Amino acid sequence: MHNEQKMEKIVSLAKRKGFIYPSSLIYGGIAGFWDYGPLGVELKRNLEDLWWKTFVSSIPNIYGLDASLVMNRKVWEASGHTEGFADPTVICKECGKSFRADHLKENKCPDCGGGLGDEKQFNMMFETRVGATQDEDSKTYLRPETAQGIFVNFKNVLDSFSPKIPFGIAQIGKAFRNEISPRDFVFRSREFTQMEIEYFIEEKNWEKEFENWLEFMREWIEALGLKGVKEIEVLGDDLAHYSKKTIDFEYEFPFGEAELYGLAYRTDYDLKKHSEKSGEDLSYRPVEGEPFIPHVIEPTFGVDRTILALLSEHYNENEERGIWLSLPYKLAPYKIAVFPLLRNKPELIEKAQSIFAMLKKNIPEIVWDDNGNVGKRYRRQDEIGTPFCVTVDFETLEDSAVTVRDRDTMEQERVTIENLAEYLNNKLNV
Ligand code: GAP
Repeated sequence: MHNEQKMEKIVSLAKRKGFIYPSSLIYGGIAGFWDYGPLGVELKRNLEDLWWKTFVSSIPNIYGLDASLVMNRKVWEASGHTEGFADPTVICKECGKSFRADHLKENKCPDCGGGLGDEKQFNMMFETRVGATQDEDSKTYLRPETAQGIFVNFKNVLDSFSPKIPFGIAQIGKAFRNEISPRDFVFRSREFTQMEIEYFIEEKNWEKEFENWLEFMREWIEALGLKGVKEIEVLGDDLAHYSKKTIDFEYEFPFGEAELYGLAYRTDYDLKKHSEKSGEDLSYRPVEGEPFIPHVIEPTFGVDRTILALLSEHYNENEERGIWLSLPYKLAPYKIAVFPLLRNKPELIEKAQSIFAMLKKNIPEIVWDDNGNVGKRYRRQDEIGTPFCVTVDFETLEDSAVTVRDRDTMEQERVTIENLAEYLNNKLNV
């Protein structure tokens, strides 16, 4: 399939099926903002839960955090964002549109062909005012990364838990960037969700810890079924001001290869800056030896880019079946759909309802569908990635068994109601 066409298909499926809608659509939308619909929010939650389980709950030395989105302005002065979180921008002299200068192929407006003004640095942080006094002192910013919420809580976690180094603090949350040209669906938006860990280490161990995190990130990417992800070292001017080494994980999106995740060695840059600016001692006191400011390895994961990669990787289509999403079971919004063969036969409905209620106790992400014929229902569930469909037919009333249909193999199996919950649980937990 042509790649541009694939992107259009994904955007259209996402809207039609309630995964992702353009924000404020009844007012014409707003560029760079997206709303997760009923199925999108399930997919997003499943993804975030899986990440939390993988990187926080199952690792004893990682602590969770949920910091505020708006912080003291001094946080951004110390981190260098007020000064340096800027992209080069040019404005078209004809139509007034602005563009990222480093994304342009030619020195003219890509929309109207007009001449371009001088290149300027544009700070991407969204300004806001806190409180009723709308003066300069009330100014601050929506956070452009979740990471700083972690650094400013480093001392709090030290004081509450006295963790031994190495240890990490993890957070999932929104970040805001006033991107000059938001594009490619949720790939580059102005409001997005990050999943980040700051892993505090001794300087001498940074290479080993970096390698460990590289491996953890590879395992995560594999668990999501994302293929062909490339690891590219970021060099020269592209390296962020705080980083000594960064590896970008690049995925082949339908519009081209681009950054999905990053792994950075942030040295002691951030804690040092916050120590200096706040006057708080942010050093770590080992049992033996001198106090020191820890160094940091930062694995960072964009939620929205992961969702776009998942939709792209697991999008399948052919003449016979139409569209099916082969999402990993753990991420699928619904795990099971239950169908009564006919919607106007009370005895079938009753039986199917009792099976639905029984399964829901164990597997809450279950959906009921009695619309149209079974073939149409399979198609509907395939389009949203439901792994298993359970059909209750007239034979069920005789033999207490149902037909279970597998999304990926399309095979159908007769399973007794008695064994159904266990059968599906086993399949879903592979
Ligand atoms: N704390 C480090 C940091 O924020 P980054 O590379 O600027 O580093 C981290 O962002 C991740 O956040 C990216 O790898 C990407 O997944 C996601 N991300 C960044 N900007 C984004 C945007 N405008 N829209 C959607 N996701 C974005």
